Amino acid sequence: MTEFAKLEAVRLDEEKGALVLLDQTRLPTETVFLNLRDQEDIWQAIYSLQVRGAPAIGIAAGYACYLAAKYSPADSAGGLERDFIAARDHLATSRPTAVNLFWALERMTKTLEANRDEPVAAIRHALLAESHAIKDEDIRMCRAIGEHGLGLVKPGMGILTHCNAGQLAASRYGTALAPIYVAHEKGYNLKVFADETRPLLQGARLTAFELQAAGVDVTLICDDVAASVMKRGWVQAVFVGCDRAARNGDFANKIGTLGVAIMAKRYNIPFYVCLPHSTIDMRAPSGDSIEIEERNPKEVTDMWYEKPMAPENVKGYNPAFDVTDHELVTAIITERGIARAPYEESFRNMGLA
Ligand code: MRU
Repeated sequence: MTEFAKLEAVRLDEEKGALVLLDQTRLPTETVFLNLRDQEDIWQAIYSLQVRGAPAIGIAAGYACYLAAKYSPADSAGGLERDFIAARDHLATSRPTAVNLFWALERMTKTLEANRDEPVAAIRHALLAESHAIKDEDIRMCRAIGEHGLGLVKPGMGILTHCNAGQLAASRYGTALAPIYVAHEKGYNLKVFADETRPLLQGARLTAFELQAAGVDVTLICDDVAASVMKRGWVQAVFVGCDRAARNGDFANKIGTLGVAIMAKRYNIPFYVCLPHSTIDMRAPSGDSIEIEERNPKEVTDMWYEKPMAPENVKGYNPAFDVTDHELVTAIITERGIARAPYEESFRNMGLA
């Protein structure tokens, strides 16, 4: 295992009773771990992208729910439930798009409800076990996505990815980077192009960092270079992650993904979406029902510059995600296998209801 592979984006330190996050806003120059106990600090960490990426947000939310119960002063099940629900409802307001957040909160709520009649200590214990289960499952799911995705890549292939859907966004392997990591283990010598991913630069700060640390051949490009490398014939497949897929296969991912999918179609390049089943929202009929987070326009005008790069008070529009139509998707790679159109049928065949 490389030194990087040992870095965990999210974990629980049971001894310290703290959620430990690798602060992703400080990468790639600084490796800083946050030890968080307070619900407000955890909310801020999710909102400010110190922990980010759909699966990692879900794992953090699971541990946050456990910590809410652990630190609740209540000595009755009813009191504990009230504190748990207050924390859960607050966490649910941190970011709207990644469905893994709500999926994890729902799982933790069901665990609480199933143990309602138990003593307070037993409820806390059940919540601890469930939060660990969410993370352990994620590790297995990411590895399985990598195994399924391996069949779609060939040695020496050029692959383009957008944003960061790697180990930092989940647990080991990540989602879109999982087939790349598994292929790397087998000596496939892939050539990866990482879009820098404006405005928050997850591709530059995180994807380029983690692939380089793992010894994968990675080239960082500005977002607007993607069409050129495709036209030159340097890209044979696109792999991206997902924050929420609707049941018809439309999906939300980092802003810019839609453009990449349109370009891939233009140049006949297969476009693959990688996700664990927890990212599929069967309640969403299409991408139209996915809420898209809008963030502060200052992330576009000021954030990465020594001085503002836009006129003061200029209007800005800064959606964090866009929705790609399922028609542009070649296949969706999950831990349960590869889904192809019609996606609703494919998802149902995988046991999703
Ligand atoms: O705003 P972010 O950095 O949380 O957005 C992350 C993405 O869009 C990822 O591609 C997605 O969450 C998949 S992560 C395995």
